[in-house]
Amino acid sequence: MKVALIGGTGDQGLGLALRFVKAGEKVIIGSRDIKKAENTVNTIKNMLKDEECRNLSAMSNEDAAAEGDIIVLTVPLQAQIATLKFIEKFLDGKIFVDATVPLESSLGGKPTRYVDLCHGSAAERTAEFLKGRNTNVISAFNNISSASLVNINEDVNCDCLISSDHEDAKKEVMKLAEKISGVRAIDCGPLENARIIEKITPLLINLNIRNKIKNAGIRITGLSFE
Ligand SMILES: NC(=O)c1ccc[n+]([C@@H]2O[C@H](COP(=O)([O-])OP(=O)(O)OC[C@H]3O[C@@H](n4cnc5c(N)ncnc54)[C@H](OP(=O)(O)O)[C@@H]3O)[C@@H](O)[C@H]2O)c1
Repeated sequence: MKVALIGGTGDQGLGLALRFVKAGEKVIIGSRDIKKAENTVNTIKNMLKDEECRNLSAMSNEDAAAEGDIIVLTVPLQAQIATLKFIEKFLDGKIFVDATVPLESSLGGKPTRYVDLCHGSAAERTAEFLKGRNTNVISAFNNISSASLVNINEDVNCDCLISSDHEDAKKEVMKLAEKISGVRAIDCGPLENARIIEKITPLLINLNIRNKIKNAGIRITGLSFE
């Protein structure tokens, strides 16, 4: 499976790419600007060993979407639909993971406030946009801070809450999430639960600010993991 990060040049894309590359996955950094994608690839190469980066490449967002098997969208809310318009024709038969969080900062407001969308959540907005295509939309990686992800010498001490209406695709993404050292993937049921999961992120940002930290995360207790 090749993992393509659309908007992979930002904080979250870089963090996820680092972890997936470190875990031995084939990773493509996508960008609107291939030079920017190449710079991110070089950043990753400077942080990891050469032999770990053999399956890492830089592409335009469109080529990354065409080439990848699991496509992960890591762009701000205001870029979500605009980016989907460029890549939608490459998404048939693919697993599409949306990490978008509707933060008010996308609209010039506070990062500690959620923006209510008429679709219920950013992931449901994506699913609505891709309706009619054979694309399995998953919501994941919304609550994992990029600061934890880029700190590659330490485990990421939090859970990844994952929701989707496509059970097999959800299992694939759960396996991918658990490649991030320290992360447990939690099956949070249907995609409509993304409207609850995405709302946790502004709370975590609030906790980061109040406690002068950058890596607040969430763990679910009481579940048994064998
Ligand atoms: N950062 C975190 O800790 C974190 C944690 C959980 C969830 N998230 C969510 O993950 C998503 C990405 O977060 P981020 O912090 O990585 O965002 P970011 O750094 O602001 O942006 C990521 C990338 O999106 C592309 N982009 C930005 N503005 C765009 C526009 N107007 N049109 C098209 N593409 C645009 C850029 O890629 P190119 O210029 O290379 O095309 C940029 O490098 C957000 O929805 C955020 O809420 C972030």
